Amino acid sequence: MASTWAPNQDGPDHPHNAPEPSFARINDYWLDGSDHTEADVEIATRITMCAPHIPYLVRELRHLLGRMVRELHGLGIRQFLDLGSGIPNVQHIHQVVAELSADCRVVYVDSDPDVASRSQATLRDVPFARFISTDIRQPAEVLADPQLREILDLSEPVAVFLLGTLQEIADEDDPRQLVADYFARLSQGSYLALSHFGKGDQQLASGLDMFGRMFQQPPPVRMRDTDELRAILGDLSVVEPGIVRMPLWHPSDDQDMGQNAEHVPVHVALGVKNQ
Ligand SMILES: C[S@@+](CC[C@H](N)C(=O)[O-])C[C@H]1O[C@@H](n2cnc3c(N)ncnc32)[C@H](O)[C@@H]1O
Repeated sequence: MASTWAPNQDGPDHPHNAPEPSFARINDYWLDGSDHTEADVEIATRITMCAPHIPYLVRELRHLLGRMVRELHGLGIRQFLDLGSGIPNVQHIHQVVAELSADCRVVYVDSDPDVASRSQATLRDVPFARFISTDIRQPAEVLADPQLREILDLSEPVAVFLLGTLQEIADEDDPRQLVADYFARLSQGSYLALSHFGKGDQQLASGLDMFGRMFQQPPPVRMRDTDELRAILGDLSVVEPGIVRMPLWHPSDDQDMGQNAEHVPVHVALGVKNQ
């Protein structure tokens, strides 16, 4: 599913409609990246008016990604598979591991064609990373992809990242089975890094609702509670500190973390396959 949202403006020649803004590029703008257009900035500004905390969440999610990569590296993980990566150009996995050791390999997967072209350009000179443009709802195909097999050894543990991605996967597509299908093909000691919008946050719900009314379609986002996330983790064991709100997942001293956790509508968990 491509995260491309058409603004509800008049006619194809309206400036907001050329080029069509995309959420991946809007994220890039909020992360101070360089892969966005004027149209993306306009839409980002409108979203910020509806839901002022969304850019903050995007930046904190990127800090979370860094914390998870460092934690997993400390646990001995050297292979990373990011499902629904967005454009990996600002403090993404390959940039974080490059600061840690020279023996890591990273595969990014996303189905958005615009993300694909920008990601391939970003990774052109990164020999230890690949980008695969495909639908993550096909685990057998993703894990058999020759580009993935070129750098990942599936007989060794892999850390699978699903940060903000499962909230774009509908219940009908059975996220629990999807995770189970990936981990059935991965070795013992493999990890799942998960983040997901939680239920019941009034500010987030009203922001997304207002945003949906501004556009031709609502944002492709589902909210799930901690029981639903525990079910999605299936047979994986949840590593300490458990399923927690984002600020409470191994907060680092140098960021605004560990503060006001109850106001952050994102749940986070790290699961491990140990059987
Ligand atoms: C909210 S973004 C998260 C991006 C990134 N993980 C991050 O933390 O910044 C979700 C991404 O998942 C991708 N995505 C959604 N459904 C997908 C699917 N079925 N197959 C592949 N990619 C998908 C979207 O294109 C989008 O780039």
